[in-house]
Amino acid sequence: MSGIKRKRCTPGIRWLALWVLLTNTMLLLYCVTSPTQVKTRGSQEDTCPLNMAKFLKKNVTLPSRNSNSQLVECSPTVNIMFMKTHKTASSTLLNILFRFGEKHKLKFAFPDGHNDFFYPSPFKCSQVKDYRPGVCFNILCNHMRFDHHEVSKLLPQDAVYIAILRNPVDLFESSFHYYQKTIPLTWRIKGNNKLAGFLKNPQAFYRPKAYNSFYLKNLLFFDFGFDNNLNADDPRVMRNIDFLSKRFHLVLIAEYFEESLVLLKDKLCWTMDDILYFRLNVRKDSSVARLTPELRARALEWNGADWKLYQHFNATFWAKIDAYGKERMKQELDELRRRNGEMKAICIEGGDAVEAQMIEDRRFLPWQPLGESFILGYNIKKNINPKYRAICERMVTPEIQYLSDLGVSLWVTKLWGWLNNVFTF
Ligand SMILES: *[C@@H]1O[C@H](CO)[C@@H](O)[C@H](O)[C@H]1NC(C)=O
Ligand SMILES: *[C@@H]1O[C@H](CO)[C@@H](O)[C@H](O)[C@H]1NC(C)=O
Repeated sequence: MSGIKRKRCTPGIRWLALWVLLTNTMLLLYCVTSPTQVKTRGSQEDTCPLNMAKFLKKNVTLPSRNSNSQLVECSPTVNIMFMKTHKTASSTLLNILFRFGEKHKLKFAFPDGHNDFFYPSPFKCSQVKDYRPGVCFNILCNHMRFDHHEVSKLLPQDAVYIAILRNPVDLFESSFHYYQKTIPLTWRIKGNNKLAGFLKNPQAFYRPKAYNSFYLKNLLFFDFGFDNNLNADDPRVMRNIDFLSKRFHLVLIAEYFEESLVLLKDKLCWTMDDILYFRLNVRKDSSVARLTPELRARALEWNGADWKLYQHFNATFWAKIDAYGKERMKQELDELRRRNGEMKAICIEGGDAVEAQMIEDRRFLPWQPLGESFILGYNIKKNINPKYRAICERMVTPEIQYLSDLGVSLWVTKLWGWLNNVFTF
């Protein structure tokens, strides 16, 4: 106001001042809106009552075939916990859940202000928008650090728990490149190939307590709420894995995404229409680092707890496919691929994903990591048969826009995105 030293205020300083002001405002608002107001005691009333759950369950039956090809009646599952792990094709699955929930007018337990539940803080049911003790929801599916006890307060007891895993070596590569700019530990690594530099001697760079360090080690273990710094041979690793295998009804594997969807459809008594998809949040191929066998071995060793987790659930996954029937799986896969191809031909301009700068409609522009723009998206055809327009649009809508459309306020996320854009260019 007094204009002290105004003339000396260079544009750089002005930007800095603006930045400080904005981040402080954001932090303040963040604290004000953080969910400390809602009291959560572990009392009986906190849990979602079973009579409510029955009420939410829809009385629809679909004929489904069991492994002996006998027709059995089942009702589509509407109560679902989806553990959205990072960098595991989970955005594509999220889009499937959003569409199913929207179609059946289900009640989502959404975060408020962001697209995640205060990640990396552990999940608390009080972080859910419009949460009150005793209120039931159908679907819980945004990024969180899993806490079974808290999650179980929100969902009916018959809720089906699903999760998705990916080979920890590829997950590590993906996480490293996606989050690199937000992990100060990586800033010190010299050379063009920071990933190789890190893996050659991780101990030189890694500190468990450093900001965002969990993106660099056993990220799956971290997402599931466990200690991501356990050694692979620590007995707690197997105990944690056992704990998950008791809680989760179906653990999908990103490397076998289509098989995963077929198992999901079977488990949830859904239809083929429900699981059609276009791959979302995919990086352009040139931004995916190819690791040498030696680096792969190092990444695997470095993420030893995740490797055990992955191997355990890869084995249960294939046991489920055996139980489902190999031939029956093959037929369903053919059908899924045929129907997906059909949707692509109906919806997608040019038949495939394109780079962000080629996307014409901002509604379909995917979120990009800090200072990057390697995530692909879609253009939809201009002359789509009106019958298909709505479904085509839904299938290509990225997570952030879809959440907005479903009524989630995302001001923190949006402000953050805006700040990133302003300060990285
Ligand atoms: C579902 O509908 C059938 C037939 O309309 C009825 O007999 C049955 O009791 C219903 N079940 C539930 C749980 O409402
Ligand atoms: C997952 O299981 C399948 C079937 O047993 C096997 O072929 C594959 O090598 C396994 N993958 C890993 C990474 O262990």
